[in-house]
Amino acid sequence: MTGYRIALIPGDGIGAEVLPPARALLDAAGRRHGVTFAYDTFDWSCRRYLAEGAMMPDDGLRQIRGHDAVLLGAVGWPGVPDHVSLWGLLIPIRRAFRQYVNLRPIKVLDGVPSPLRDATGVDLVVVRENVEGEYSEIGGRLGRGTEDELAVQEAVFTRRGVTRVVEYAYTLAESRGNHVTSATKSNGIVHTMPFWDELVAEVAERHPGVRSDKEHIDALAAKLVLAPERFDVIVGSNLFGDILSDLAAAVAGSIGVAPAANLDPSREFPSMFEPVHGSAPDIAGRGTANPVGAMWSAAMMLDHLGHPEAAADLLAAVFGVLADGVSTADLGGTADTAAFTRAALDRLGAA
Ligand code: NAI
Ligand code: MG
Repeated sequence: MTGYRIALIPGDGIGAEVLPPARALLDAAGRRHGVTFAYDTFDWSCRRYLAEGAMMPDDGLRQIRGHDAVLLGAVGWPGVPDHVSLWGLLIPIRRAFRQYVNLRPIKVLDGVPSPLRDATGVDLVVVRENVEGEYSEIGGRLGRGTEDELAVQEAVFTRRGVTRVVEYAYTLAESRGNHVTSATKSNGIVHTMPFWDELVAEVAERHPGVRSDKEHIDALAAKLVLAPERFDVIVGSNLFGDILSDLAAAVAGSIGVAPAANLDPSREFPSMFEPVHGSAPDIAGRGTANPVGAMWSAAMMLDHLGHPEAAADLLAAVFGVLADGVSTADLGGTADTAAFTRAALDRLGAA
């Protein structure tokens, strides 16, 4: 038996509705593969912010530093500005734990309708730089409220930061389709993006077996809609990767099925796994949320912890239930969260 200690942060809204199903599947897959999990649950959320003035306690990062991984639902709630919930919880965890890779696999699944007429064969991964780039605190505003008001925001690209995430993308491509597409804009952004391109070229030289493409972000966005099946691994800066991964997730169908991992590949710190979707205040409290994104995120966690067979089992059960035509309302189905979870657990037990 191998045991792990997991920090659970359900967060707000449907975050708290999709984590228990993910946990149930994790436990069931673990039982079949000799893996056990112990959980500590943290109430860090907008609810906590409204009651206590902070998304998490002052020593929050220390409290989860020793866990093997973090599984997060979603944070954000009307009445708390989104930048408060993001910068008060998610971004501190990503940065303090050096989770410099944001990994988002995207597949068109049987039973999940895509808005594209023909989206067969889509199976790609977006590797997003997760700790530097355009999302920086450097900058400021002057002359508030005057005619001359201005705002400046600096993007920060470092040799170390770019090289390590691009290296991750190339190594990942070697275990998949041997193809990396780099998102750039070196024709318009004349300092950081040529630097990005140069560093990508340096890494590419170390991976001669991988085909390298470079696309400007605007053209790449169009190609992702027109021919998404042509891509394997796409690597982009923090901003470009953020936008591309939501776009690619939309191409694949519902945001409710999309998973994400925030990885510290050095494994010095815990990595964090979370569905791509937010807290969905419009459907929260009804028990109808799609738990697939959270379940797929839990499978990525199993994979990261070194249990790829358990991860594959869990995913096969979830994808099998979808292919059988059982799905939640966002996918046009009639199952609620609990019914979908029971079907996945049954399938996992019967597999
Ligand atoms: P959202 O992802 O919460 O919802 C967008 C739409 O998709 C809604 O109509 C919602 O009902 C639907 N949806 C999302 N996930 C679903 C699921 N699992 N099953 C069924 N339907 C689903 O995005 P929105 O509305 O822009 O943001 C709501 C709050 O969530 C905001 O406070 C935002 O800041 C936060 N948020 C948090 C994220 C995180 O924790 N990583 C990511 C995105 C948004
Ligand atoms: Mg986003």
